[in-house]
Amino acid sequence: MANRLLLSRILAALLAFWVLFLEICSAGELLGAFVMPHGGIALDPRYFNTTNSTAKAEAWALHEACQQVGREIAALEPSVILLSTPHGVADLSNFQFYLNPRGYGWADTDNCDCPPCCYNVSAEIDGPLSLRIIESLLQKWPGANVSGLAAYGPPAQEDAEPFPLRWGEVIPLHFILPHSPLTRVMVLSQPSRRYNDSVAMIPELLQLGHDLQSYIKSETTERVVVVISADLAHTHLSSGPYGYSNASEPFDLAVGEWVKGVNGTALLETAAVLVDRALSCGYTGLVMLHGVLQAVGLSSWVPRLYANYHPSYYGMMVASFLPK
Ligand SMILES: *[C@@H]1O[C@H](CO)[C@@H](O)[C@H](O)[C@H]1NC(C)=O
Ligand SMILES: *[C@@H]1O[C@H](CO)[C@@H](O)[C@H](O)[C@H]1NC(C)=O
Ligand SMILES: *[C@@H]1O[C@H](CO)[C@@H](O)[C@H](O)[C@H]1NC(C)=O
Ligand SMILES: *[C@@H]1O[C@H](CO)[C@@H](O)[C@H](O)[C@H]1NC(C)=O
Ligand SMILES: *[C@@H]1O[C@H](CO)[C@@H](O)[C@H](O)[C@H]1NC(C)=O
Ligand SMILES: *[C@@H]1O[C@H](CO)[C@@H](O)[C@H](O)[C@H]1NC(C)=O
Ligand SMILES: *[C@@H]1O[C@H](CO)[C@@H](O)[C@H](O)[C@H]1NC(C)=O
Repeated sequence: MANRLLLSRILAALLAFWVLFLEICSAGELLGAFVMPHGGIALDPRYFNTTNSTAKAEAWALHEACQQVGREIAALEPSVILLSTPHGVADLSNFQFYLNPRGYGWADTDNCDCPPCCYNVSAEIDGPLSLRIIESLLQKWPGANVSGLAAYGPPAQEDAEPFPLRWGEVIPLHFILPHSPLTRVMVLSQPSRRYNDSVAMIPELLQLGHDLQSYIKSETTERVVVVISADLAHTHLSSGPYGYSNASEPFDLAVGEWVKGVNGTALLETAAVLVDRALSCGYTGLVMLHGVLQAVGLSSWVPRLYANYHPSYYGMMVASFLPK
């Protein structure tokens, strides 16, 4: 009798170790996070029509930083990239994951339209994983503003047409996918309420970032890189389409300060006061990323700001956060 009890205790202990072992082995991993621009000037500075040599040099610095990030992402060997775009197919209120098995589209540059300047990208989309994230988020937060989009057929259907992609997705992927051809992509499209309500969205964005990190870590076995497609202030020049605002320069500087110090105050307070006049399409994605970084612990990241310039009316930044 005593022996049997001992045996069952040993078996229970072995089982517990085995479960722990499986948990450690199967934990997903967040390999790093990157901020990349989607401006045509960074895509191909050869066509940037300017006589200002400083601006031209800044455009090249942004471009080269994007190329470097593409190589660095490949070196991390992610199994999947989670790409946030502010210029995707957007819902009024919901954050939307794209669910077709493939995405395809093109971008062009600021001074040379497609054709002849076409930059085309085809990406393998992980629809099933995206569906599981949506389900998990909805289970946790009934009423969460998260859903998925299937273009021209049932979700994640094998032979469906590709999901349409444009510059918000294509420009970052153009720098990434040639170096990581086997990496799958999940695209998260920011809702249109970001145009008017980005500051009000801050708590929700931080929560979403937390939830995405926790899903990656505990509910997948994936090696994930997060990429935020984002441009900064669009009001640097009175000759630009959105005119001039004195909020543009301090906004871009505050976002740079956020990166360099992983400094939440700079993003969530200083930049938040400026964003409605600075007009930055990237802001909500950056706040969501801050939620991801916070969920791991702000002091666990090594930040790097590669470039932060506005060669024309809009600001662009290239940045990375790697785990210590
Ligand atoms: C480039 O700039 C010059 C001078 O501003 C202008 O005349 C020309 O039309 C521009 N070209 C393009 C392709 O935008
Ligand atoms: C790239 O996309 C453009 C625009 O849809 C298209 O006209 C062109 O044929 C494509 N190029 C290639 C090489 O697929
Ligand atoms: C969903 O969005 C609405 C605004 O459209 C907001 O009031 C609500 O708090 C959001 N829900 C969650 C769970 O964040
Ligand atoms: C944002 O607000 C402006 C001005 O009130 C309005 O015209 C526009 O439709 C709003 N945009 C969205 C996406 O709600
Ligand atoms: C910035 O512009 C606003 C109006 O848009 C003005 O009220 C404010 O005084 C200006 N600030 C500075 C420092 O010039
Ligand atoms: C963080 O940013 C805020 C505002 O932009 C600044 O006042 C503060 O000194 C920064 N904190 C650190 C530790 O650098
Ligand atoms: C040239 O570009 C730089 C960087 O964008 C800018 O600071 C400077 O004012 C520009 N010079 C002229 C003459 O426009």
